[in-house]
Amino acid sequence: MIPFSVMLPTLLAFQQDLTKLKVADGGGSFFFPPEASTFAKPYDGMYDFIQWVSIVFGVLIFAVLFGFVAKYNRKKHPVAIQGNTHNLALELLWSVPPGFLLFYMFWIGFKGFLDLREPPRDAYTIAVSGQKWAWSFSYPNGAKSGELHVPVNRPVMLTMTSQDVIHSLYIPAFRCKQDVVPGRTTRQWFVPTRIGTYVIECAEYCGTSHSDMLTKCVVHEQADFDAWVKEAANWLGDWIKAGKPLAEAGRRLYTEELACKTCHTIDGTKFTGPTFKDAWGRHETLTDGRSVTVDEAYFRKSIKEPTADVVSGFTPVMAPQPLDEDQVKAMIEFLKSISEHK
Ligand code: CUA
Repeated sequence: MIPFSVMLPTLLAFQQDLTKLKVADGGGSFFFPPEASTFAKPYDGMYDFIQWVSIVFGVLIFAVLFGFVAKYNRKKHPVAIQGNTHNLALELLWSVPPGFLLFYMFWIGFKGFLDLREPPRDAYTIAVSGQKWAWSFSYPNGAKSGELHVPVNRPVMLTMTSQDVIHSLYIPAFRCKQDVVPGRTTRQWFVPTRIGTYVIECAEYCGTSHSDMLTKCVVHEQADFDAWVKEAANWLGDWIKAGKPLAEAGRRLYTEELACKTCHTIDGTKFTGPTFKDAWGRHETLTDGRSVTVDEAYFRKSIKEPTADVVSGFTPVMAPQPLDEDQVKAMIEFLKSISEHK
């Protein structure tokens, strides 16, 4: 059991993380987030049905229980009443009709489960990669992002895998959740029905920053989505062609696309990984006692084999980062631009 003194601050921190995301998750009810996919209505209906059956039967059973306690207590009946061992009609009454209710619950649950398992053939497919502690999304045209972007009213399928441990991609407003497992591909699908921004959570405990493994799902109008995904695929190439400063491209990669920011700050704060501020040219001692200077060779090795040369005081948790050459160059310029000794 997790002690309450640990659990409460964790829960509060999680609440803050949600506020930080500034997600417009409005429009939900007291119990539920907004209904933003085609799954939401039937599932909430199912939940309400089970909830109300439980409440009605719970109240009934407790009423009978207390009624019997009042009526047949030992003070009034010092000698046990003998004779009636059972009543067939009563027993059928409390077994058969509730049996139908239970079967109906199974049936709607089973149908809902089959729905969830079977994506339509024309679904728009987005590849998802989970790692400690960030999500990244890859679109069919080569675009990549750290937030999920999808078109409204169109089936979207996520094919998901993990770089390290088990995560679970959960979009409460869509009522869908599926484990993301290393070494295999899992999938889930949904049809977003409401334009807006919704929170994505990791729903499988995956280590220290599990509760920070948050991002957003942005639901666009189809035309806006097309424009977004086109820009997202080409921006870095266009940027370089236009001769714009690479360091700024690196900053955009850091804030919008890559997973760096979940562990490496740029304001000097120590987090899961060493801060990027003043990182370039810094002399670091490694966990095995060797020392290195943070330069291009070290950076390139660190994204390929993150657990090889870990700075002392940190644990090796990072998964290899598949950056292309343009991204590597842009990140290097960005790191230099926020470092004193370049
Ligand atoms: Cu990833 Cu919890």
